[in-house]
Amino acid sequence: MTAVVLYCRPGFEKECGAEIQEKASWNEVYGYLELTKNQGIVYFHLNNSEEGEVLMQRIPLKRLIFTRQWFVTLTDKIDLPDYNRVEAIVESLGKEWQYADLRMETADTNDGKALSKFCRKLAVPLRQALRKEKILTEKHDNEGAVLHALFFSGSEVILGFSLGTNTSPHVMGIPRLKFPNQAPSRSTLKLDEAFLYFIPKDEWETRLTSGLNAVDLGAAPGGWTYQLVRRGMMVTSIDNGPMAESLMETGQVKHRMVDGFKYIPQKQNVHWLVCDMIEKPDRVAKLMAQWLLNGYCKEAMFNLKLPMKGRYAEVVKDLQILKDAFSEYNVKYELFAKHLYYDREEVTVHARLLSPVPIF
Ligand SMILES: C[S@@+](CC[C@H](N)C(=O)[O-])C[C@H]1O[C@@H](n2cnc3c(N)ncnc32)[C@H](O)[C@@H]1O
Repeated sequence: MTAVVLYCRPGFEKECGAEIQEKASWNEVYGYLELTKNQGIVYFHLNNSEEGEVLMQRIPLKRLIFTRQWFVTLTDKIDLPDYNRVEAIVESLGKEWQYADLRMETADTNDGKALSKFCRKLAVPLRQALRKEKILTEKHDNEGAVLHALFFSGSEVILGFSLGTNTSPHVMGIPRLKFPNQAPSRSTLKLDEAFLYFIPKDEWETRLTSGLNAVDLGAAPGGWTYQLVRRGMMVTSIDNGPMAESLMETGQVKHRMVDGFKYIPQKQNVHWLVCDMIEKPDRVAKLMAQWLLNGYCKEAMFNLKLPMKGRYAEVVKDLQILKDAFSEYNVKYELFAKHLYYDREEVTVHARLLSPVPIF
């Protein structure tokens, strides 16, 4: 039976499952979920086997908030022999299809991490054998399918494929970012990943460039401000808590000890509003909509902190607040949310208006 396998942060299987089931049903694709708590892997077993590829063509991965990466199964779980694992994998693939790339993957758990050395070792002979059989072209072109091998142990694997045009470029959908030693907090990686994920690299020169003005709400001690400063921006950092001295010394940061919900910029020259305030997510969503619709900023990147229960419903409700506000003013907009790798009990949202707010 064919399933769509989805990778998420361990502990968020319910949210990931609820979301794929809902979004698949909008596309008239139905199935049932199988999930194990804290494994970070969700199976959506399809009622109709043919529909795996249909789903991958219709739902952009970027629209799935809680899914890091996904593939459609080509096989059930295969038991591998102790020797000749490569041959067993090649054989079970057959020669009908070709793939542009191979991803060796595991669950994002301690057991999974323990398998990564095994995967790296096996990848070398497996690639060679797949190339020899012309199953793997490795042209790395976006158009081709990507072959996934998800290992549960050294002797158990599921094989599947994703579409090169609708897949994460990272193994298991996880970008590995280096923590910059000068950054004042680990939170810095969240904004670094968010920029990488939401803003196409070929637009960084205009949208993430030096000289732009930014406001950081809930900035202390300055991990997010650091990301803006290192890109050469001038930042107003709002927080009652202290900012790292190293950032203040750059001369690019103004620190204001005021309430982030009350601060209004004096000039309409702010490009980025970023916000990591620990606050009720619906309050943050309303504030972000106000900033954008009042023209206080051009783009907003912010976290919605999630409650313990009903996390998927909460995100949907908060995004609806933004959509309703934008629709009321009849503006075109871009709005994406993702549970990024460096996020924990929160999702990151990017929003910007694509048309001016009509003046009445
Ligand atoms: C998760 S921390 C921010 C970490 C920061 N992004 C970094 O990378 O270092 C949340 C911050 O929000 C601030 N905060 C919470 N409510 C606020 C409010 N109403 N106005 C301003 N800051 C607020 C807190 O003081 C706290 O420093």
